[in-house]
Amino acid sequence: MSKSLRNPHIEPFTRVDRRIAPDDIRQLQGVDRVYQMANNENPLGPSPGVIEAIRATAPTLSYYPQFSDVALRQAICGVLGRGLEPEHIFTGCSGFEALELIARAFLSPGDEVILSPPTFSGAYRKVIEPLGARVIDVPLAPESFRYRPDAVLRAVSESTRLIMLCNPNNPTGTITPADAMAELMRGLPDHVILVADEVYHHFVDAPDFPDSIQFALDDKNIIIVHSFSKAYGLAGMRLGYGIAKPAIANYIAGLHRGFHQNKLALAAGIAACQDQAHVRRCVDFLRGEVAWLCRQFDRLDVKYWKPATNFIMFETRLGAEDLNQQLLERGFLLRAQTRNNMPYGLRVSASTREDNQAFIRALEEILSAVAT
Ligand SMILES: Cc1ncc(COP(=O)(O)O)c(C=O)c1O
Repeated sequence: MSKSLRNPHIEPFTRVDRRIAPDDIRQLQGVDRVYQMANNENPLGPSPGVIEAIRATAPTLSYYPQFSDVALRQAICGVLGRGLEPEHIFTGCSGFEALELIARAFLSPGDEVILSPPTFSGAYRKVIEPLGARVIDVPLAPESFRYRPDAVLRAVSESTRLIMLCNPNNPTGTITPADAMAELMRGLPDHVILVADEVYHHFVDAPDFPDSIQFALDDKNIIIVHSFSKAYGLAGMRLGYGIAKPAIANYIAGLHRGFHQNKLALAAGIAACQDQAHVRRCVDFLRGEVAWLCRQFDRLDVKYWKPATNFIMFETRLGAEDLNQQLLERGFLLRAQTRNNMPYGLRVSASTREDNQAFIRALEEILSAVAT
């Protein structure tokens, strides 16, 4: 490590996670095909209207985009309805960047942010810790992965600025119901903002899922994060947004650099909003595939948590790293949950039926070899 990187402020952030690309894995493992089931993407891709909008926009790329993203914010409001105005929305170049903007807006050295692991901790820490803020973990209830609003509120201090509530939660796929979120919101002191990361909200059909947008409309301290990466099938475009009361949304939008959103993303986002039938098709399809995978897990006696998402958390008697490696050798990319303190846990993203069947065949083969 070079001398400059011994700086104590830099050193914790030099642990770079350079994931291997699917093509490299194909070469490394000598497999014919790589099955990308690690990133909770949408295998059906974007709406044809999005592809058309990108084609139509491409010849104009020598000019800067619109300085304002208001057309995209209007399109988002058109989809969400509820009386939301563009002033309630700020956009990000991905949901991850929306989280980054929130952190930059509200965190200073010494501040605290409450997380409830196992959750999307790696990404949250990445936006929190470089700002000198501290993570306070208040874990979900063991086994059920139930959110504990009482314990979270007890952990709030004078230094707490943000509480991250990932709902549905990644990697467990479980939801925090409306009554638990209401309890949290009731107890929230004025100096704390709840960040409701709801990038998987499209996949939820539970009637007790919270109406978090109502809290924003009621002027509460809440920021809801959505993404175009999941149900919209636009993970490669890197587009997301936040919903909050105008005072918060405008403050965060003030951190944008000029010409923040690129032209293709603006055109794609607007076209995606205009094709909600495509979103419904993708959601129906992925819910069906998740249900199919769950039935296969039942058949194989594999433990899993009932998901409200396009992915499933499961456990087998094999260590997660071992099973992950054996799957990798067959071309299947999943996400082992060892870093999330689940030594037997893996997360699989639902894909096409053909890919899901291939995955189940591989899993069955690996597990039957252990049984004998
Ligand atoms: C819980 C959660 N939040 C936020 C994101 C970020 O989404 P993106 O940056 O692709 O919009 C992801 C992506 O997987 C996620 O799982």
